[in-house]
Amino acid sequence: MNRFTGYYLAPMAELSHRALRELIEGFFAVPPSPSAGPGTVNDGERYRPVYYTEMISAPGLLARGPFEKWYLDSGPCAQRLVYQLVGADGDQLAAAAALLDRRDCLGIDINMGCAAPAITRTGAGIRWMENQDRAGRLIRTLRRITTKRLSVKIRLGPKINGGRDRNPRRFPAEEAGTPAVNGPGELPLWEPLLRFCRRLEEEGADLIALHPRTGEEKFKRRARWDYVERLRGELRIPVAGNGDIASAEEMARKAAAGPVMAGRLAVRRPWVFAQAAGLAEPPGPGPEGFRVEPPGDGAFESPPFTGGADPREETALRFLELLARHQPPEFHLSRARRFFHYYCDNFTWAEFLRNQLNREETLAGMGRIISGHCRSVEGPGPGLPVPPAAAMDGGEGL
Ligand SMILES: Cc1cc2nc3c(=O)[nH]c(=O)nc-3n(C[C@H](O)[C@H](O)[C@H](O)COP(=O)(O)O)c2cc1C
Repeated sequence: MNRFTGYYLAPMAELSHRALRELIEGFFAVPPSPSAGPGTVNDGERYRPVYYTEMISAPGLLARGPFEKWYLDSGPCAQRLVYQLVGADGDQLAAAAALLDRRDCLGIDINMGCAAPAITRTGAGIRWMENQDRAGRLIRTLRRITTKRLSVKIRLGPKINGGRDRNPRRFPAEEAGTPAVNGPGELPLWEPLLRFCRRLEEEGADLIALHPRTGEEKFKRRARWDYVERLRGELRIPVAGNGDIASAEEMARKAAAGPVMAGRLAVRRPWVFAQAAGLAEPPGPGPEGFRVEPPGDGAFESPPFTGGADPREETALRFLELLARHQPPEFHLSRARRFFHYYCDNFTWAEFLRNQLNREETLAGMGRIISGHCRSVEGPGPGLPVPPAAAMDGGEGL
């Protein structure tokens, strides 16, 4: 029986933009390998991810700042795009949601999980989880404003034990090796979390995306997926699980139990959704002969390109081109660096390469560094020509 429930790209500031979406989509366009027989498909539209945007500031959107058009770019597949809004003021979020509702998109998400000081200081992000009534009223208002899929991205809560126990190591049930939601350690997090989510559901939320860490933990400890599973058992609406997914196999396996959202892995390996699609069972009755191409040996370590160039290099250069095409010059360097912070893990001497890229001031130069690295460190290969500087840097040159 098919139980595939959907893949999601997580909202990530400076990362979840059109260039990354196009890069990811590109891997689904790769034709089946010659060894695959007729009728073989590996890119069913239904396996393609739903894309969350990076968080968009509600006040920024309402002020119609100079960069808003880039944040609002819904390409290349608006039908699978969810805009994420962040803000502290309910009226501003409502006004921003009304603007987004008129756009072509799948859904609108409210960020109630971000724990970055720049966000929480303003009362936004995870601060919404401190007050269930305030959050509930917001979702009720938004439900009246939009018919799009309304989702909320959350964490387990701001702090363990309401902040009284500031040492996240002291989590009794986990320490004892039992799932945190089933032991004495569950109470500080589980009960308030469930009440909060039930309230969002009652007020009209269509989906909850849970990153099962507390705000205080940031990225420390492991994501507690047992909370995701338990929450799914309690709510009528779907719960997308998010956090620490490490491979296409894990993604495909987890997607049998509920929607799966991946963030950093999708930047490290932009091909991972396409790979996971090749692993999942076809959903529902497909056309006669519908088969999914299994990945070959070692497919988890390298992108499924068939061309002659080093596929990691090809992917990096393609990303730089897409970045130049779909983002304003003011964003190029910060976004390229943010991408390579994760993507460099694919290469030998990743830290060395990352440092070189961080010192580089142009996209074209970054492309040359990647290609040079592939030639000198990763071994000889035919390579790809680096696009001309004008194309890479939006006309700004080197
Ligand atoms: C660089 C970066 C930026 C992020 N920006 C956002 C954001 O804009 N909105 C949000 O809800 N979460 C944001 N997150 C959290 C991710 O959506 C996700 O919850 C987290 O990375 C855990 O998932 P992962 O282990 O698959 O990366 C960000 C995470 C990272 C690493």
